[in-house]
Amino acid sequence: MQIEWKVAPSSQWQADALIFFVFQKPGDYPPGLKQFLDSSGKWLADSAALADFNGKPSEVALLYSPDGHPAPRIILAGLGPRERFEPERLRNASAFALRKCHELGVARPAFPLCALEGFPCPEAGSQEGTWALDSLLRETVTGALAGLHQFKLLKTRDLAAPPLPESLGILCTEPVEPSWRQSVEFAGSEAAGINLTRDLTISPANRVTPAFLAQTASEMAAKFGFRIDTIDLATARSMGLGAFAAVAAASEEPAYFIVLEHAPAGSENDPPLLLIGKGITFDSGGISLKPREKLEEMKQDMAGAAAVLGVFEAIGHSGLSKRVVGILPCTENMPGGKAYKPGDVLRSYSGQTIEIISTDAEGRLVLCDALAYGAKRFKPCLMVDIATLTGASIIALGREVAAIMGNSEELTGSIRKLGAALGERFWPLPLWDLFFDGLKSEVADMKNVSDRGAGAVCAAMFLKQFVPDQIPWAHLDIAGTAWTDKDTGFCRKGATGFGVRTLFELVKSR
Ligand code: BES
Ligand code: ZN
Ligand code: ZN
Repeated sequence: MQIEWKVAPSSQWQADALIFFVFQKPGDYPPGLKQFLDSSGKWLADSAALADFNGKPSEVALLYSPDGHPAPRIILAGLGPRERFEPERLRNASAFALRKCHELGVARPAFPLCALEGFPCPEAGSQEGTWALDSLLRETVTGALAGLHQFKLLKTRDLAAPPLPESLGILCTEPVEPSWRQSVEFAGSEAAGINLTRDLTISPANRVTPAFLAQTASEMAAKFGFRIDTIDLATARSMGLGAFAAVAAASEEPAYFIVLEHAPAGSENDPPLLLIGKGITFDSGGISLKPREKLEEMKQDMAGAAAVLGVFEAIGHSGLSKRVVGILPCTENMPGGKAYKPGDVLRSYSGQTIEIISTDAEGRLVLCDALAYGAKRFKPCLMVDIATLTGASIIALGREVAAIMGNSEELTGSIRKLGAALGERFWPLPLWDLFFDGLKSEVADMKNVSDRGAGAVCAAMFLKQFVPDQIPWAHLDIAGTAWTDKDTGFCRKGATGFGVRTLFELVKSR
């Protein structure tokens, strides 16, 4: 879907449907809608349909303009109560409005830019108590582009839906400001990333194999000029990536340790930002086999790797001028005659030895080698890993909040702040040294699982052993947030693409 700017007096705003956003309080209209009701939309001001519209989140109304109006349809999308307004509400409302257009086969919907004015903002990021237009514009466009996303590739039936809208118009009366254009460009970039991440994550493990992820990364590298290194299992083993190799040992699907690098001219020698994503394309638990219930959901155990690929897609689209490296350790975790076993002791890339208690705690093993390798080879200015790492993080924080831990409050704090503004919530858990006690081993430097609870923290504590102290590092546990069972508008049921927005913002802001 194209985004098209149109500058014209409001009486000449043409579109197949004109979209407005409405608070959940009778008569409490944002200024842009008020203006419309006072001018060319007088007919709407008097209609019962407007009075009947409640403005609840997810509520959408379709109204038909009287003959002769340049926009034959008006779509109202609910924002919920004014005092509870957050940009996330607008993102979802925009998504629901565009989905309505899709359902109806509306080819060229549009929204007036002034429809985003006057939204209350009690916190930072405000301009005289209202949200800056730039960020609301981005929410609206990202919401539209990601809200329309659906994964239908593997369906052969019931495909008779109308085509997607061809364009989304943005109507304004003044010349378009460069910062508005930039917001829309960022929205396009991040939505491309989010949608890629969702497609990869929702895809079954017999489609998205490690080789498929390597192929996706290679195509991206060719398209955007990234450097790429797809290290196969034999090479990984010979390089000393022993923890990664142990997890991959029983998989018939070839494993790949993928290194992707965006180093635009002039940045080649800068210390890069390093993003690491867990890429377990199916987690059976290995010899410590998981129970059968919901085992099909373990196809999503590569959501971290998919999020890193999504960030690179967004970087490629936006042409960022900074050096960024992505490391994706990708493999299945399977049982079998060659599988690693509880009780085995592995030698990791860092040289530290690990006693295996559970082969189902495999994510931290592939990540610990990626962290140590990435730190040594790239000497990054910061490292962030993102992983569907522990069921314990779901117990602690549920499905709408990801756990964040690390060795730098500056870094974890800024990730939390960036995420909060983008509808991605991160909450810290305490990464105190005492949590290492449960990881102490009789036979090796550490065990891969602690027996003292605090599962999400102990997993992070394990990872911390592989991060040099001087490199700021954050660990994002997205086991709960990578997947949703409820349709929010912005995201249908299934894979969410969680993390892409925040990490894209992080690489832009540093
Ligand atoms: N991939 C799982 C974590 C997970 C659970 C992701 C639910 C998404 C949804 C991870 O590899 C795992 O199995 N973790 C174990 C660790 C335990 C053995 C210490 C867990 O959380 O139970
Ligand atoms: Zn596991
Ligand atoms: Zn796993």
